[in-house]
Amino acid sequence: MTDTQRNVILLGAPGAGKGTQAARIAVGYALPHISTGEMLRAAVAEGTEMGLAAQRSMEAGELVPDEVVIGVVRDRLALPDAEKGFLLDGFPRTIEQAERLDAMLAGAGRAVTRVILIDVPEDELVERLAGRRLCKGCGKGYHVLFDPPQNDGVCDVCGDELYQRSDDNEATVHNRLDVYRAQTEPLVGYYEARRVLKTAHGGGKMPDEVFAQVEQLLEGD
Ligand code: AP5
Ligand code: MG
Ligand code: ZN
Repeated sequence: MTDTQRNVILLGAPGAGKGTQAARIAVGYALPHISTGEMLRAAVAEGTEMGLAAQRSMEAGELVPDEVVIGVVRDRLALPDAEKGFLLDGFPRTIEQAERLDAMLAGAGRAVTRVILIDVPEDELVERLAGRRLCKGCGKGYHVLFDPPQNDGVCDVCGDELYQRSDDNEATVHNRLDVYRAQTEPLVGYYEARRVLKTAHGGGKMPDEVFAQVEQLLEGD
């Protein structure tokens, strides 16, 4: 591993703001933003075999099987733009995925250098997911209350229509939060033990205030 590599993971519950912060980090630190959720949604939209297999789990708010997601990440990390660093959003989500990522990186003499946990109280998570809107054209994210577009339902950047993610309905959101607590939260201890975990406090703070914390956590030892 070279000293200058930033191999970063964003950890946090559904709606914690991983995608929101990742967009800022990717620009600020010139890291490729690798979101397994986005890659899986693209596969669903394209109707690939993997997409068809993943769709049911995603719509129910369950995790897609480890083998599928690990394969996606392995292929993505092998692309040249991830050679000098990366920003993972939504992966790993199980201890198995974390162990397999460590093994993958160790094989190339690399390691995870920083894990940033975005910590947000549960009631805020539900509110954020309920109000989230996304652009059909360019993918930009909005929130009807906290980050509204200038014109209702229309993207400020490209003018395309905004939509709601199919897993942002109330029942699925509650299941996603339960799945997070049961299967993903144990990663906090996993990365604490490896001394790479730092926590950003995202509750009650605007995205730019959270990003100011994230920058400090990325710069510090
Ligand atoms: P994924 O797409 O990763 O969804 P998620 O983890 O549930 O997280 P979200 O994308 O919903 O939230 P976020 O933290 O990115 O929040 P955002 O920035 O948008 O995964 C989807 C599904 O794919 C999973 O359920 C699973 O089925 C499958 N999957 C993916 N990865 C997998 C893996 N590794 N293994 C197995 N299965 C996998 O913000 C949310 C809203 O809040 C937005 O509207 C935003 O504008 C607003 N907001 C953000 N920050 C703030 C703030 N500070 N203040 C106020 N509002 C804010
Ligand atoms: Mg996201
Ligand atoms: Zn747009």
